[in-house]
This record gives sequence, structure tokens and C-alpha cells, in this order.
Amino acid sequence: MKIGIFDSGIGGLTVLHRALSYLPNEDFLFYADEAHVPYGTKTKEEILEYTTGAVEFLTKAGCRAVVLACNTATSVAVTKLREEFDIPIIGIEPAVKPAIAHANELSAEGGRGGRVLVIATPMTAKEKKLHDLVERVDSHHLVDILATPKLVEFAQKGEFNSPAVENYLKEVFQDTVLSDYSALVLGCTHFNLFKDTLSGLFGTQCQLLDGSEGCARNLAAIVEKEGFAKGECGNVTYFSSGEEVKDETRLAFYRQILERLSEMEKY
Ligand code: DGL
Repeated sequence: MKIGIFDSGIGGLTVLHRALSYLPNEDFLFYADEAHVPYGTKTKEEILEYTTGAVEFLTKAGCRAVVLACNTATSVAVTKLREEFDIPIIGIEPAVKPAIAHANELSAEGGRGGRVLVIATPMTAKEKKLHDLVERVDSHHLVDILATPKLVEFAQKGEFNSPAVENYLKEVFQDTVLSDYSALVLGCTHFNLFKDTLSGLFGTQCQLLDGSEGCARNLAAIVEKEGFAKGECGNVTYFSSGEEVKDETRLAFYRQILERLSEMEKY
């Protein structure tokens, strides 16, 4: 069967990378809305319009399930999309719950800090969805939230540990005591590409967590439950804002990102 994986840009490759390991024989249509990236600084109306357009495109192209591999699009649009479309729409959310469990475990053992920092786009950081989630699971008020929007722009340029990235991170964390945190939640799929740089800053005792594993697992469970016919091909076709990507340089860039994501697994 065909499965759509959608993001504003290359961040969605994080989920594709995981989904391929659960469902190696399905056909994936990866859709990056690169004409409109970044989403995190857009209005809710714009994000809803762009995301609806992409899901429409993917359903017309034959997808029988669509993953919103974008925390920002999930925050704003998942409920409306589930009402509008007759196929499973799988969202992604910041891994706050396992981060709190980890922080609590460490403090029980007398370990460091015990706070949790969620980094996300400005939209995810202010949206009700994240605040509701934190309220449900953060009974000891351990969670802080910080928007780090420029990381999306750096990622789109394939820039992950340049001096400009390092300077930006210094600036954005200038009022944050990094050693307070035993867990850093990557609340935007683009941020997984910076795990080496972030781990360097926060130290190896700080666990880096993201929602892509849970999201891919949900997708695999839905494919199993819905009893979709097993695929046989395992092809991935890439689209950038509705146009199939055929340019070899761009395809090579996507492949490099997937390779980088494999490297980031050790963090
Ligand atoms: N990668 C997306 C997310 O997970 C969106 C980033 C953006 O376009 O601002 O939030």
C-alpha cells in the first residue's frame, strides 16, 4: 500500500527513516512542502491550508494513510484533518511523557537536575496541544519550553554544526542553565538532525528524546490493524510541494539526510 509522510521540509525524513524499518515493503510518498517552509512562524490559518492541500495531494495519489511528520502541523491541523479525510491520519507529538519518566527515575536515584526542556517551533511552543500534554503528565512542574525556530532554516540548508549554528544555539540558550536538564525533548522533526551538536552542549547525561519512534510505531500498528494489503515494493517517491523530485542533486541531498539520521541514532 502507499503511505504518505508529510512535513514542511526535510524534518519528516526522521519519521520516514523509522517507518522504513517497521514497514520495509510498503511504498512511501514523502511530501516536503518546501515552497512554504518554515511552518513554525506562519499563522494557524496558513498551516491548516498548506497541510490540507498536502494531505489532499497524497490521498489523490493513492495513499491509504498519511503521517503528519511535523509537530507544528499536528498541533494545528490533525483534528480537522481527521474530520475531513476518510483515511487514518497519524500525528506526532513531543516525547514529553518518556522524558518526565526519565527525569523522575534519575532524581529518585539522586542523579543530576531532573528538569525537562522541550525545544520546538514557535507555533508548537505556544499551541494548546503541547500545553495540554504538559498539564496532563507534568505533575511535578519539571518542564520548560523554548522555541528555537532558526534550526529549521539551518537544517533546510544542510547546515548542522557550522559556527553559525553554534552561535545561534549559544544565543538561544543564553538564559538557560543547561546542566539543570536530564532530558531534552526535540519537539520538531528537523531538530533530530542536530543531535550531535545538542548532545555536545547538554552533555551525555542529558537524554535526547523525540516522537519519531512512537509515531512510526503507531503507523505500523494502524497498517496491521486496518489489515491493509501487504506491499511488496518498498519504494520511496519524493515530492516537493506537489512536484515529484527528479533532480539528482536534490535526491542525493535527501539520501545524505537519511544517512545522517542513521548516524544520529547513537545519541
Ligand atoms: N518539522 C516541523 C515540526 O516538526 C516543522 C518545522 C517548520 O517548518 O517550522 O515542527
